[in-house]
Amino acid sequence: MRPFFLSTPIYYVNAKPHLGHAYTTILADCVARFHRLRGDNVFFLTGVDEHGDKIVQAAEKAGQTPKEYCDAISTLFQDLLPTLGVSNDHFVRTTDEQHKAIVQKALQKVYDKGDIYFGEYGGHYCFGCERFYTEKELTEDGLCPDHLVKPEYIAEKNYFFRMSKYQNGLLEHIRNNPDFIRPERYRNEVISLLESGALDDLCISRPKSRLTWGVELPFDENFVTYVWFDALMNYISVLEWPEGQAFSDYWPGAQHLVAKDILKPHAVFWPTMLMAMDVPLYNHLNVHGYWLVRDTKMSKSIGNVIEPADMVERYGLAGFRYFLMREMTFGQDSSFSEEALIMRFNADLANDLGNLFNRSLAMTKKYFDGVVPQAGPLQDVDNELIALCRQSIENCQRLCLRFQFAKGLEALWELVRGLNKYIDVTAPWALAKAQDMERLGTVMYTLLEGMRKVAVHLWPIMPEKSLTMLSLLGITFDPIKADIESEIESFGGLAVGTAIQPGGNLFPRIDVKKDEEPAAKQKKAEKKTKKAASTPQVDTEGVVEFEDFAKLDFRVGTVVSAEPVKKADKLLLVRIDIGESEPRQVVAGIAEYWKPEALVGKQVTMVANLKPRKLRGEISHGMILAVKKEDDLMLLQPTGEVPNGSRVS
Ligand code: ME8
Ligand code: MG
Repeated sequence: MRPFFLSTPIYYVNAKPHLGHAYTTILADCVARFHRLRGDNVFFLTGVDEHGDKIVQAAEKAGQTPKEYCDAISTLFQDLLPTLGVSNDHFVRTTDEQHKAIVQKALQKVYDKGDIYFGEYGGHYCFGCERFYTEKELTEDGLCPDHLVKPEYIAEKNYFFRMSKYQNGLLEHIRNNPDFIRPERYRNEVISLLESGALDDLCISRPKSRLTWGVELPFDENFVTYVWFDALMNYISVLEWPEGQAFSDYWPGAQHLVAKDILKPHAVFWPTMLMAMDVPLYNHLNVHGYWLVRDTKMSKSIGNVIEPADMVERYGLAGFRYFLMREMTFGQDSSFSEEALIMRFNADLANDLGNLFNRSLAMTKKYFDGVVPQAGPLQDVDNELIALCRQSIENCQRLCLRFQFAKGLEALWELVRGLNKYIDVTAPWALAKAQDMERLGTVMYTLLEGMRKVAVHLWPIMPEKSLTMLSLLGITFDPIKADIESEIESFGGLAVGTAIQPGGNLFPRIDVKKDEEPAAKQKKAEKKTKKAASTPQVDTEGVVEFEDFAKLDFRVGTVVSAEPVKKADKLLLVRIDIGESEPRQVVAGIAEYWKPEALVGKQVTMVANLKPRKLRGEISHGMILAVKKEDDLMLLQPTGEVPNGSRVS
């Protein structure tokens, strides 16, 4: 079995967990689960960082001892994991005895080698980052670039790790291993840092006279080691380096996941420490961007901190996890908003995926008594779908295994949308009407097998929903026995004769109207931000709230037929395929400008969720969008052809 070890950062326990922590941990969980589906031997680690000044300060503020305080906050982090559906194999705390003992072992080894020395140093220390900054690294105003506070100038005798000695070795390693740090922008950042040749040695101790809440140096009882030399070591202390079986089993498959804020410690401190300890370097450092809230940094003082448990409660775990994975492009910053979450949920899950399941299962029940039928000879349209399936699954796996879930899920949705389109094109209802049961069986089998593949590949992202989808398809799924690599080429995993279980609505639409609360809450936060920035109040007349806009469902579809409406010169009866089981019928006031035959085959944009109404005896369900220009009426179209039913957003 291929080993796969994946860590999240260990989070500081000086505050409660928020969206950022939840995101990293969920992303790691999704990747770990993908590896489990491939049959890899996975060790997925998360935990907390408990030593150091800022923890002591937070404990004091809470009127507790550091130990009491750490126990309480660590429990919050640990208890959140099941709520977020996280399947970690271990939860590490830096106050664990095993961890502390191994930190000391490592320190002794590096000390004996001569790579730790005693010296004097003065520098700008940021307590938020728990590290010294050089003048050059500070902002123009002399502030910490991350926390924007003035660092404290500290000069004292301390122990130093000879990091500069490994500068060239590290640079060479990064050059020889193009995806050691990914994505590339962070690799480039580290390369230019190392090329500038400005790497200092790393201060790794604090005198006990100033801080006792750390791990005592094995070679000097008057000092403790703090943060980085302590914290980074968690990645191998849990594996019982150096002799532990777990270390030899898992370390060869090691990868780390962090956000850009702690790039330098992971890309420079940690590999140079490993070199000094004669430990092989990890395989990849994966670096993601920051979640912003409406383009602003999340912060307690602005009052816009997103609590992950709230989001799960409000939108469900599947929707929350799906949104986080789908929305953030790996390596880049992303903006979080509940409106965006709702839009994604409704478009991708309620609409594309939910409808696919609902209508396919209903048709299987109706036409085949709920039993998966045999496929007959394949036609071009079936072969095309199977080819799309192979390509989509291959891309989905490749991208997700590299942490690129936004792209990986987009690839999977090409299949979801392809399946919806396949229904429209093959029109099973027409085959049923014509009693062509062999052809109908082929279509339904192809459809259900495609859906099975989608459901399997959603297991890492929404494990529970995936199991539900699979059980609707009559499948008892065991992730451990899955072999998703073979799912790329094979088509036919769904057994003929399986009894499916129709019914239930997988992803009920989130009705924005019913849910006034998030908007109210966010408005409050917005007001606070505005106040802070003292922006003048904007005149809101003639302006709609975002929630109002989000209620509208615009779709692109192809006109399949058009005919005049009797006794109404201005009206045409138009039928538009917007990816639903039957074309939409719209009565449109465009007869003066458009001949029916000129419309057929054109893609148009329509409002799809207008309440149906009767016009001249005909039901009109939707509205075609058009622009009037003198004596002409132009129809609104995307600049290129898109699948029918594509949402305009
Ligand atoms: O740095 N967006 O702990 P920390 C995305 N203890 N991710 C975010 C985020 C945001 N807005 N805010 C935080 C530490 N994170 C050290 C690490 S590791 C040996 C020691 C996530 O509590 C992201 O993963 O400040 C980031 O790297 C981490 O929390 C920082 O957590
Ligand atoms: Mg931080």
